[in-house]
Formats: sequence, C-alpha cells, structure tokens
Amino acid sequence: MLQPLQAELAPAKVNLFLHVVGQRPDGYHLLDSLVVFPGAADQLTAVPSPFLALTVTGRFGATLDDGPDNLVLRAARALADVAGVTAGASIVLDKRLPVASGIGGGSADAAAALRLLSQLWSLRLPRPILHTIALRLGADVPVCLIAKPARMGGIGDQVSQPPVLPKFGAVLVNPGVALSTPAVFAARTGPFSDGAALPAFWPDVAAMARGLSGLSNDLQAPAILLCPAIADVLAWLRAQPGCLLARMSGSGATCFGLFREGEVARAVAGNAPPGWWAWGGGFTDGAASPY
Ligand code: C5P
Repeated sequence: MLQPLQAELAPAKVNLFLHVVGQRPDGYHLLDSLVVFPGAADQLTAVPSPFLALTVTGRFGATLDDGPDNLVLRAARALADVAGVTAGASIVLDKRLPVASGIGGGSADAAAALRLLSQLWSLRLPRPILHTIALRLGADVPVCLIAKPARMGGIGDQVSQPPVLPKFGAVLVNPGVALSTPAVFAARTGPFSDGAALPAFWPDVAAMARGLSGLSNDLQAPAILLCPAIADVLAWLRAQPGCLLARMSGSGATCFGLFREGEVARAVAGNAPPGWWAWGGGFTDGAASPY
C-alpha cells in the first residue's frame, strides 16, 4: 500500500581516522576507517507519483545537479529495478550539507533515498540486497545505509563493529571549497599505512582523542595541497578552548574538532568565521549496533 508522505534524514558521515592501506588493480583504494554520523543532515521527503522526479532545495541546493545523474535519482532507479517497482515518487532533497566536502553528502543522500523509497513503496528487501544496490552507487553508500558508528574496511564497503564510543561533542567546519574525491586520492603519495589497532571501547572522550591522535587521515596532506584553506580550518579548530583533536574528514575539505560536551561544540560552531559552514553538537549514539 502506498504511504502519503515519507521523510528521512541523511546524516553526514565523519571519518574519525582514515588509513589508506592499499590499492586494488582497478584503482580503488583499500581503507581502514572509523565513522560516526552527527545530527548534521540533509533531509529527503517523498510522495507517491506516477513518475520519478527530484527537486533540490536548501542552502546548498543551487550547487547540486538535480538531473538524472543525481545519486538520489540513481538510487531510486536502482531500487525500483531490483524490486520490480513500477510506481514513481516525487522526491524533495533539502540540501543542508556542503557538497563535495568529505562528509559523504551524495552517499548519505543515496542511502537515505534507499531507506525512504523502501518505506514509500512498502518494500521489504533483505539487507544484503540493499547493501549490494548501495555499493553499486558508491563505496561508502553501504555504511551510510546503516548510519550508525562503524568501522569501514575494503574500499569502504566492509562494515563492521566499531569500538563502543563515549559521549562526546564535535564541531564540523567547511571552508566553502569543493574538493573532488578522485583528485585527492590521486594526489596521495608515499607508502600505504597499516590498519589501526583499536580497543573494544574508549571510556571517555579524552581517551578517544588520545587513541585517535596516534592514527591519521592519510588524505589530509594531499587535500591541503589542493586546498590550503583546510590548514586554516584546522588551525582555527585547534585554537578553540577545549578542542581535544582536530582532523579532516574523508577527502575533505570539511574538518572536525572533538570536544567533551555537545553544548561546548555548539557554542564553538556558533563562533566560526563568516563564510565558513559550521555545525556543532553532541554524539550520544555510541552504543554498539549489530552488523
Ligand atoms: O565510490 P565512489 O563513487 O564514492 O568513489 C569516488 C572516487 O573516489 C572513485 O572513483 C575513486 O577514484 C576514489 N575512491 C578510491 N578508493 C575508495 C573510494 C573512492 O580510490 N575506497
């Protein structure tokens, strides 16, 4: 039975560390990463319609192509094909997150579209089938489908249990420069990193920040070469009182700072320089979830 209106959030994906541990013959890189999903999110809504249609709104809507190559429409077509759905949907994507910014925007939107349309079309596809559809859309779409803290392996598609995370606050800052993920991977040089040894849990955010400081985002240095403003963002975050760790997420240019409390993070984000996009808040969803 068709439902009248469905809504789904597409939370940002933040890589607390990202090691590039190898490369496949097809060029894709092998990763080891720990991801969390803050409250910062795009929003998708959909109503039943005979055809598939997408409207993009929101602060960053104008920077995004709403044509057939948009990942939301590609996700919708892929899901309809696999499930044999002939109905359509009129989808609105409220683009609140900066695009091409290392926090998984397009992947998060595609994953949210899969969740949203599964509800709208009353589908009950088994999780492995949805995972396969997601992976065809992008290496990190499967983890965005789950949208819970996770360890990522393989090319980002192998999702497993993360350490149990403490409660913490985080600030996300983007300097307003779009970065191409393939360009950043291509600019990476030097040997590959080892995978990380992570504990079963971090008792508090200070211990988590200490543990993470021994790890890295291997894409940060090449991204700074392509976009020097990232270094300014990191310096600004590190200068904020209470910042325990500052690092770039994904292939950039968005960076995050870790703080003890969500309230402190919110206040810090409120003081970000004009022209930069910033979000601050708390992470409480540290509980382990089944995979
Ligand atoms: O899979 P996705 O479309 O998100 O990846 C975009 C590009 O990023 C790929 O074409 C590839 O150049 C690069 N990439 C990579 N290794 C990964 C993920 C992405 O080299 N694990």
